Amino acid sequence: MPQTRYKYAETLSWTDEFHVLYRGRELLCFAGCDYLRLSAHPAVRSAINDTLARHGLTVAASRITTGNHQLYSRLEQELARFANAETAVLAPNGYTANLIATQAVAGKVTHVLVDERAHASLLDAARLLECPIATFKHRHVDDLKRQLNHLPASARPLVMTDGLFAGDGSIAPLKEQIAVLPPTGWLLLDDAHGFGVLGKHGRGTPEWSGAQSKQVIQTVSLSKAVGVFGGAILTSHAHAERILSGSRLFAGSTPMPLPLVGGALAALKVLNADSARRKRLVHNAARIKNAIRSAGIALPDTPAPIVSVQIDSAPSAVDRFRRHLLAHGIYPTSARYPGTAASNRFRFVISSEHSVEQIDQLAKALVTFPGLRP
Ligand SMILES: Cc1ncc(COP(=O)(O)O)c(C=O)c1O
Repeated sequence: MPQTRYKYAETLSWTDEFHVLYRGRELLCFAGCDYLRLSAHPAVRSAINDTLARHGLTVAASRITTGNHQLYSRLEQELARFANAETAVLAPNGYTANLIATQAVAGKVTHVLVDERAHASLLDAARLLECPIATFKHRHVDDLKRQLNHLPASARPLVMTDGLFAGDGSIAPLKEQIAVLPPTGWLLLDDAHGFGVLGKHGRGTPEWSGAQSKQVIQTVSLSKAVGVFGGAILTSHAHAERILSGSRLFAGSTPMPLPLVGGALAALKVLNADSARRKRLVHNAARIKNAIRSAGIALPDTPAPIVSVQIDSAPSAVDRFRRHLLAHGIYPTSARYPGTAASNRFRFVISSEHSVEQIDQLAKALVTFPGLRP
């Protein structure tokens, strides 16, 4: 990690689903990963309240002792059904879903190969396996293949990648990656951003890329398109058994608060019944990207609802861009995470519920700034 000092971002208060109060002004905001704005859906909110009233807040115990509430199994069944997976195992959140899924294969994996731009949780997860870890070039199937081919014949590799990379909206070439994976290997797909967003039914990166394989372990976050909070591992029965018997993190932690399980069940019901939100999301993402492309700025050709742009790294240019966005009534959402040095990258996250006028307001602000780059 670079020696950059990080501090909390400025506090934001949202005045509705689209605006924040910033230094006394109400600004349009394209931030957060509540892509379908399900956190504000009345059915989700009332399910959270009803579950709290009926079942209380927490089981206050691990699921392998006294904390295995029936709502957990219901949500796991619904998630597996939604994703067309053999089974699902819940995790406290998306980050720990990766740690749990990986801890379960400790001792069974001999080498880890991670996309160089993978999310931090995959890097942390890889370190749980006491075996060599290498990175492959971002989304580069030939580099992955070359490294896999160099492993001994007895190797049991684990490949790790994000599905939809939230940094720039690119998507892993999953089909091609599965094709180069040896039969003894696994692929851990962190689909925190793809789940609920990509594919005809919103099942995520596997559906979008037409790549289903028993070698893929798909992890998801319930705090993004699902709009609630929590995580899950969509996998085989065999791997689910390994989690129960092999993950100390799973065995030794309290599962999701029950009202959130109720909320996630309601959100899945909405996702199943109402494809209109996903269609609006695709439409909104295409609208902004087309507007930006028509100004000569090339963006990755994916349906990701993310627009990531950078400007000259000189502090004066960054300041100018921030002021330009503020003048257009837009909150400047700079994307800066531990592990990424750039503070001249700005990321705008589109939701299904932004209006055409709001999308066009952002487009106008972006295309009128000279020197914008993808
Ligand atoms: C790619 C990716 N994986 C995992 C996570 C962690 O998910 P959660 O916030 O549910 O812990 C995030 C969240 O920011 C993410 O972007």
